[in-house]
Amino acid sequence: MNHSERQPRNRTYLMCPPEHFTVEYAINPWMDTTVPVDAALAVKQWSVLRDTLGDLGHTVHVLDAVPGLPDMVYAANGAFSVDGAVYGARFRFPERAAEADAHAAFYGAGGWRFAGPAHINEGEGDFAYLPAAYGGLVLAGYGFRTDPSAHAEAQEVLGRPVLSLRLVDPAFYHLDTALAALDDRTIAYYPGAFSEGSQRVLAQLFPDAVIADREDAEAFGLNLVSDGRHVILNTEAIAMGDRVRAAGYHPVHVDLSELKRGGGSVKCAVAELRP
Ligand code: ARG
Repeated sequence: MNHSERQPRNRTYLMCPPEHFTVEYAINPWMDTTVPVDAALAVKQWSVLRDTLGDLGHTVHVLDAVPGLPDMVYAANGAFSVDGAVYGARFRFPERAAEADAHAAFYGAGGWRFAGPAHINEGEGDFAYLPAAYGGLVLAGYGFRTDPSAHAEAQEVLGRPVLSLRLVDPAFYHLDTALAALDDRTIAYYPGAFSEGSQRVLAQLFPDAVIADREDAEAFGLNLVSDGRHVILNTEAIAMGDRVRAAGYHPVHVDLSELKRGGGSVKCAVAELRP
C-alpha cells in the first residue's frame, strides 16, 4: 500500500499522571514488588507521551491521580466508549476497584451516555474498536481479566457487534498487550497470545493484519496507540516500529521504561474517547 494513503484522524484521549505510581502488589507477571519504581521518572516519561499526542494534533484530557491507586496511570482500563456510549469498567482485583469510580465521574460530568457494568471488565484494556470493519466491530479479550459475560453486556450497551477472543498466555493478560488497531479497519497482533480457535478467527477476518512475534509482544510493541498514520510505541519496540513502517505507517517511539514495571506501556496509559 502507498504510504500516502495512511491518513491520520484527530483523536481525543484520556490520560492520568503516574504521580502515585508504585508496584506494591503483583497482579500480572510483569510486576515485581521487590524492585523500587521511580515515580518522578515515570511522570517525566508520561509527560513526553502526553506531549507527543498533543503535538500530533490530538486532544488529551487529564484525569487527576488519586493517592492509593498506584495503577491509575493505566487509564485505558477505566472504561470503553463508542459513539458517545460508555461501558464502564469493573476491575478483577480489589486493589484497582476504586479507579472505576473516578472514570465514571469523568464521563458523568461530560454528558456521556454511561452504563455501569454488571460484569467484570477492564475497559479498553480488553476492548478494541474498528469503526470501518464489519460496520463497526468491537474486538474483546477474555481469559485473564475481563469476564466473557461482559462481552455480551458491552454489545447491548454499545450496539456494536462484539467478537470474543480468548487470551491464553499470562504475559499477555489484556487484549491490548497482544492486539492493536492501526487504523479504522487494520489490526496488528501476536497470534501466540490467542487460543487456536481465536487465531483462526483473526486470520479469517483480518488477512491484511500486521503480524507480530513473541519478542515484539514482550517489548510491549503491540501496546501501541495509532491515529491511523502515526503509531506511538515505546523505545524498546524498535522491531515492531519497523513492521508498522513496512505496512505504511509512521512509528513514533517514546520511552516508557517505568510503566513497564507495572505491566503496561503506551496503550495502557491512553484511553481513547469516542464521542
Ligand atoms: N498493573 C496493571 C494491572 O495489572 C497494569 C494494567 C495495564 N493496562 C493495560 N491496559 N494493559 O492491572
